[in-house]
Amino acid sequence: MAIYENLLLDLQQGILTITINRVDKLNALNIDTIREIRNAMQQVYDDEEVKGAIITGAGPKAFVAGADITEIAELSEVTARSFAERGQDVFAMIERSNKPVIAAVNGFALGGGCELAMACHIRVAAENARFGQPEVNLGLIPGYGGTQRLTQLVGKGKAMELMMTADMVGAQEALQLGLVNHVVPQEQLMAKSVEIMEKIMGKAPLAVGLVIECVNAVFNNDENGYQTEANAFARCCTSEDFVEGTSAFIEKRKANFTGN
Ligand code: COA
Repeated sequence: MAIYENLLLDLQQGILTITINRVDKLNALNIDTIREIRNAMQQVYDDEEVKGAIITGAGPKAFVAGADITEIAELSEVTARSFAERGQDVFAMIERSNKPVIAAVNGFALGGGCELAMACHIRVAAENARFGQPEVNLGLIPGYGGTQRLTQLVGKGKAMELMMTADMVGAQEALQLGLVNHVVPQEQLMAKSVEIMEKIMGKAPLAVGLVIECVNAVFNNDENGYQTEANAFARCCTSEDFVEGTSAFIEKRKANFTGN
């Protein structure tokens, strides 16, 4: 059983809520917290009771205000590369999870915080959310996948501008840019995130996982996404949930999916 100092984990009705809990540092991601996120994601992968995860930040002010700058300041060229790669691996674990992961963004999502949110499959933002990649202010660039995922989400021109100017965008602008899926009042943030998660949890889990895999394939240059899709489509057709889903439609009843 993993021990957590910087995360709060709460499993309710199949949803594991992972709360980054360093309120006095605006939930900045130090190395220990990155390690703990890896452990929490391992639970998402392994624990059959977990059907999906919601990642959020403790307190009203920040989702995550970035990687911990006090640790970054100590990095050398060698340690910086492994620092970035370690964070990239953990965020790739989120992106590749075959169970849905939703970011509930409750305030500042800067640097590594924006990158963490972007690694999730869906982002719900509170009205006070603010997004940005301000690393150039520190003489740095994003190191946890931000240059790649921000470009994927908002397009090349806007990604260039945001990363070169270090400008922050508010929740409504993030919505217009396609950086977030929904914006809600702060007090409705978790309810909206749970509502989306429950809707997904009512669908066939294997199919949901394969949707994630196929969409991710778009961004993998080594993969033919159409082939991945055809293979995944065929895999669905051999599943019990496919039989259940089609039978339920024909019998005009609600499908009862088991994930098999
Ligand atoms: N790393 C380490 N500590 C951080 C941090 C980070 N990324 N972001 C905030 N903190 C700490 C502050 O140092 C401060 O700690 P202290 O009380 O011990 O001095 C505490 O969190 C509160 O932050 P503060 O700056 O006082 O809050 P604010 O409301 O005035 O400003 C921000 C909020 C988010 C605008 C500001 O904290 C900020 O710019 N943070 C850095 C953002 C960033 O560059 N992220 C990318 C890192 S690569």
